[in-house]
Amino acid sequence: MLTLILFTCVLYILFIYYFNLRKRYQYFERQQIPTPSYGQFFFGHLKQLWQTKSGYSRQLQEWTRQLGSIYGFYEGSTPVYVVSNVDFLHEVFVKQFSNFHARKSSIQTHLIKAKHLVESHGSNWKRQRQIINPTFTSLKLKTMSPLIDNSIEELVKKLNTDKLFNIYLLYKRLTMDVICRCAFGIDTNMQDDPDNIYLHKIGQIISTDFEKLHLSKLCRVIPKLSWIFAQIFLFRNNFNRLMNFICGHLMKFEELPNLWLFNRIQNVIDMRSTNIEQRRIDLLQLMLDASAEGKEKLSYEEVKSNVFLFLLAGYETTATALAYCTYVLAKYQNIQGKLQMEIDAENDEYLDLFIKEVLRMYPIPIQTINRRCMIDEASVCGYKIHQGSIIQADIYSIHYDPILWGPHPTNEFYPERHLEQRHPMAYLAFGQGPRNCIGMRFALLEIKLVLRRLLKEYTIVQINEEIFYPIRETAVIRPNEIQIQLRKR
Ligand code: HEM
Repeated sequence: MLTLILFTCVLYILFIYYFNLRKRYQYFERQQIPTPSYGQFFFGHLKQLWQTKSGYSRQLQEWTRQLGSIYGFYEGSTPVYVVSNVDFLHEVFVKQFSNFHARKSSIQTHLIKAKHLVESHGSNWKRQRQIINPTFTSLKLKTMSPLIDNSIEELVKKLNTDKLFNIYLLYKRLTMDVICRCAFGIDTNMQDDPDNIYLHKIGQIISTDFEKLHLSKLCRVIPKLSWIFAQIFLFRNNFNRLMNFICGHLMKFEELPNLWLFNRIQNVIDMRSTNIEQRRIDLLQLMLDASAEGKEKLSYEEVKSNVFLFLLAGYETTATALAYCTYVLAKYQNIQGKLQMEIDAENDEYLDLFIKEVLRMYPIPIQTINRRCMIDEASVCGYKIHQGSIIQADIYSIHYDPILWGPHPTNEFYPERHLEQRHPMAYLAFGQGPRNCIGMRFALLEIKLVLRRLLKEYTIVQINEEIFYPIRETAVIRPNEIQIQLRKR
């Protein structure tokens, strides 16, 4: 009898779940918003996105070509609006920010119980951002220029003019060195120590496509159960740590790299907070000071999470931007010549335009540029958007739109196009609105210091057009390598 009652209950729950899901899959149809075909029950369009050879962002661009500047797809059963209509995006990212102040959440939030800027929202995010914003002012960043210069000095020692080499690898070591020194004050010299454990672990985190792990996929399909899936990850990790403890050096069980790094950061912060003599000027100290001085404070967990975030956010993005800059310089010798002339004359204007154009054509962390609707129903440009729906900007379609970026053809490299006033949402390399990239000034400072130094001493020799394919898309869109040759000026 009991079995029968249980069976009936389970059947009833499944029945309700099925009908709820069916209703959810009519969401875009009810709003007369087009969706790509072949969406599957339970997965929505996720399987197509996981299997696409061109990568997530190129697939969105392809769908935009077919369906227009506002369309929808289902991530599991979550409705995702894909938008390249800049007025719509301006409403969401800027004007109605209070209704769209969160991003799509990820399993990482639950894994490291992340309390940092990217994963928090509402008043929690606002307080953190207000405290951390001043640490990224030009004046504070200037105090870090010597730290960056020291790392660049090490890079220059590694450059050679005899043969082709992969400069992207050197950039990665450089930017890791810089962010470790500037974000949490460990004096690394990754550039002389390519086997450095931090370099190795952060490299592992970045190259792991979390979205492709089975448990992450389950989180995407059933976000409500993310917490449980994260506990499975954590259990596996704790088990490996325990086995390492028991087996000593007989056997090595791999800890999840994010958890490894998170624990090391904790040690550095503990040392810094207890030992006044360890004070130095870096982002960690500025955050610790800011949270000690102000009325609003950052908790210990928040400082830790944000240092972790800066290490990840500041490393590969900046190295990849430098890699694309170098590729463009090698390809367009006339632009390189002009830039060298401007740099020799200590003039930065053309360098600014040049970097903007590189990041227009080669945007990097595209998938982060999304927002989640946080109220029951928001109205944007005549569309009704409901709580939990995601608005994903389609950057490729926007950055290559001839109406936004013409009249010069948008697939040509033309820095001067940035001299003209454009729509505020036409340029999304660092996002837009109150939640844009907090590290933008830091990244630009580092990129400019490297390019100035490189081009003052060297010329990048002209190269074959397709040196960096294939492009890979994980959290950032990046080339596999950039093979170049240098000539001393
Ligand atoms: C060329 C290098 C970089 C690029 C292209 C880049 C790009 C981006 C983009 C597109 C976003 C999302 C913005 C949005 O949703 O509107 C973002 C957010 C963020 N970036 Fe960067 N970034 C770079 C370097 C850095 C560096 C060096 C740091 C830190 C030291 C950093 C820290 C962050 C943080 C903390 C956020 C989240 C901000 C928030 O949610 O309040 N980024 N970045």
